[in-house]
Amino acid sequence: MLEAKNIDLFYGASQALENVSLSAAPGEITCVLGRNGVGKTSLMQSITGRHIAKRGEILWEGKDITKMPAADRARRGIAYVPQGRQIFSQLTVLENMKTGFAVLPRQERKIPSEIYDLFPILKKMQHRRGGDLSGGQQQQLSIARALIMKPRLLILDEPTEGIQPSIIKDIHNVITILKRQGEMAILLVEQYFEFARDLGDRYAVMDRGEVVLSGDIESMNETEVRKFLTV
Ligand SMILES: Nc1ncnc2c1ncn2[C@@H]1O[C@H](COP(=O)(O)OP(=O)(O)OP(=O)(O)O)[C@@H](O)[C@H]1O
Ligand SMILES: [Mg+2]
Repeated sequence: MLEAKNIDLFYGASQALENVSLSAAPGEITCVLGRNGVGKTSLMQSITGRHIAKRGEILWEGKDITKMPAADRARRGIAYVPQGRQIFSQLTVLENMKTGFAVLPRQERKIPSEIYDLFPILKKMQHRRGGDLSGGQQQQLSIARALIMKPRLLILDEPTEGIQPSIIKDIHNVITILKRQGEMAILLVEQYFEFARDLGDRYAVMDRGEVVLSGDIESMNETEVRKFLTV
């Protein structure tokens, strides 16, 4: 279980998050929605440790990780699929995936066959350079790299951004499978409303550095939520 409570985060003097709270539970997908620049990625970075919150508290599996370095959080099962994918374009697909091994004990450093079941294309392209892949294939690679870390919290930051529809469908299927396994907590940052609504169990809408709406997707007021998504 992840619980972020009353998070404030700054870039220099400028405040990106104010009093933000968010939680995520195993077997559930929590969607974070909101327009460009409202603080979605900043919130994910406070959870992964790439940017440390100034105030507030982040609890993960009962432990306070608010100030913990990013690498230690990764070792504790928090994996991040960054916005824009950030794969290594000069490394092969296989080498990219192996960078996920860093957080695992030596004896566990194998690519599980499940990865290739989820992403058959990565098997076919394992010796190609990351930079040779299409945007959608790079996104799949980025998700695979995160899964190799055997996360208990998987954070996906706008996985459909700039991706062709056929691969969005594949990614949708993969997220559904991961959810059904019931072990992982998933945080899904999205601006593609239908994608989030179809997959999500719970949601939080952000606007200008704050959470303005939240609850169960089942009882979500779509019209209200959409007001915070359109420009
Ligand atoms: N490294 C940084 N230095 C300074 N300001 C930043 C930095 N990163 C983000 N910001 C600012 O913080 C605010 C929140 O940005 P953030 O990237 O968290 O938004 P976002 O909701 O993820 O947007 P998008 O949907 O475009 O990815 C914005 O005003 C942004 O300009
Ligand atoms: Mg972002």
